[in-house]
Amino acid sequence: MFLKLSYPQCIRSKVSICLPELLPFPHRRKMDEKQVKRRIVLVPVPAQGHVTPIMQLGKALHSKGFSITVIQTQYNRVSSSQDFSDFQFLTIPGTLTDSDLQSLGALRFLMKLNQICEASFKHCFGQLLQEQVSRDDIACVIYDEYMYFSAAAFKEFQLPSVIFSTTNATAFVCRSVLSKVNADKFLIDMKDPEVQNSLFPGLHPLRYKDLPTSAFGTLEDSISLYSEAVNTRTASAVIFNSASCLESSSLLRLQRELQVPVYPIGPLHIAASAPSSLLEEDRSCIEWLNKQEPTSVVYISLGSLGLMENKDMLEMARGLSNSNQPFLWVIRPGSVPGSEWTESLPEEFSKLVSERGYIVKWAPQMEVLRHPAVGGFWSHCGWNSTLESIGEGVPMICRPITGDQKVNARYLECVWRIGIRLEGELEKETVERVVKRLIVLGEEGADMRKRAIDLKEKLEASVRSGGSSCSSLDNFVNSLKTKNFMQQ
Ligand code: UDX
Repeated sequence: MFLKLSYPQCIRSKVSICLPELLPFPHRRKMDEKQVKRRIVLVPVPAQGHVTPIMQLGKALHSKGFSITVIQTQYNRVSSSQDFSDFQFLTIPGTLTDSDLQSLGALRFLMKLNQICEASFKHCFGQLLQEQVSRDDIACVIYDEYMYFSAAAFKEFQLPSVIFSTTNATAFVCRSVLSKVNADKFLIDMKDPEVQNSLFPGLHPLRYKDLPTSAFGTLEDSISLYSEAVNTRTASAVIFNSASCLESSSLLRLQRELQVPVYPIGPLHIAASAPSSLLEEDRSCIEWLNKQEPTSVVYISLGSLGLMENKDMLEMARGLSNSNQPFLWVIRPGSVPGSEWTESLPEEFSKLVSERGYIVKWAPQMEVLRHPAVGGFWSHCGWNSTLESIGEGVPMICRPITGDQKVNARYLECVWRIGIRLEGELEKETVERVVKRLIVLGEEGADMRKRAIDLKEKLEASVRSGGSSCSSLDNFVNSLKTKNFMQQ
């Protein structure tokens, strides 16, 4: 059984912001040669967790003197008004039918998007090239690993391309391993609880059950999508929104295995702020946080795609209430299957929440995590949320749902030791216990907070001048100036 609804619901979201279309190509004025900056073209996946880091990357590269063009699909478009007035936005045609949007899971949606966009992307890209004063104007094209259709155009036009992975290097290694497993054997292995809990060979400390299989499709779908995504094709480099202080061995392994340079340049949200929320943020929660005690609040968010059953939400509310800690909970419209928002939850839920909690549909997450009242983050462990939480020194309650979130949760618990993993059925007693362990009771939570603050400082140092990520970004930018970038 896999989750079908979340991704299409999110991409049909009425609140996604559409930018006014740019003037058609022939009407755009060619720039004077002297004014021309070299251009980098970005190709994001239309989903919040992918848009956010690629737009931050755009900001980082813009600050290095490049012009930025974003080529996006019809779904979940970023707006030029969102602090990106210097960027050029182009939208390629290609839509899925309503029935596809309703029935495809996220994996098949991505595969289909790759099929329908290839030709229109080539066309759009060809026009963009005609607009350039010289071919060298485009320094390179950076595409999200899941927008692999775009590689065909770069090959045809012989332009340098770079893959951007919005997850960490460890998850990329895992996807590469998964893309080669025998699906039938893996499925049989995974039915055995002993195997599930055993270490996967060569991926210490990950267990079989920590591998980034997706809840948004079948294992076969995961394998075929991952085989496309980890295929570097003609790409000249791979960029990660990560830092060597977090996962040096996975980065070194990829450096060896991929045969193209690997650039860990994150965390991008510290290196280059770029507000690109596709949903409207409810800032009233900051006023509510202002009234709470320092490090007392549990902030709960399952990112932009996670879903939650009624019974789990009710157990959570009971456990949170019994812990006596205040909580701020993001419940996105459509994240409770079969319900517009929270109306299908029983009266008891609203009563429990109104006593100690505050609910919003979408929060200004970075501001929330930075708030002194926040003591812990109950998270699905998406990579952006993970980096944002570490970046504010906030320890986590880890409840991964799908994909790379499982890898991140394992690292949070066993490698960085700043998170408590909550496994199995959600029951009010376990919820209460985990909240108390993290926030209320003495040493364990305090030690985690201390480690989280140490890691925050390391991350901040990595993006400062002379830090590993800052140098990696400089090396990447310098490599774009070399003539043989494409042959690397
Ligand atoms: C998914 C995967 O989980 C993630 O690991 C992958 O790298 C990208 O795709 P998502 O599930 O949306 O992303 O989670 P996450 O990576 O955490 O990104 C969510 C983003 O939404 C974060 O930047 C977070 O700050 C933002 N957010 C979330 C808000 O701004 N407000 C909210 O209320 C909730």
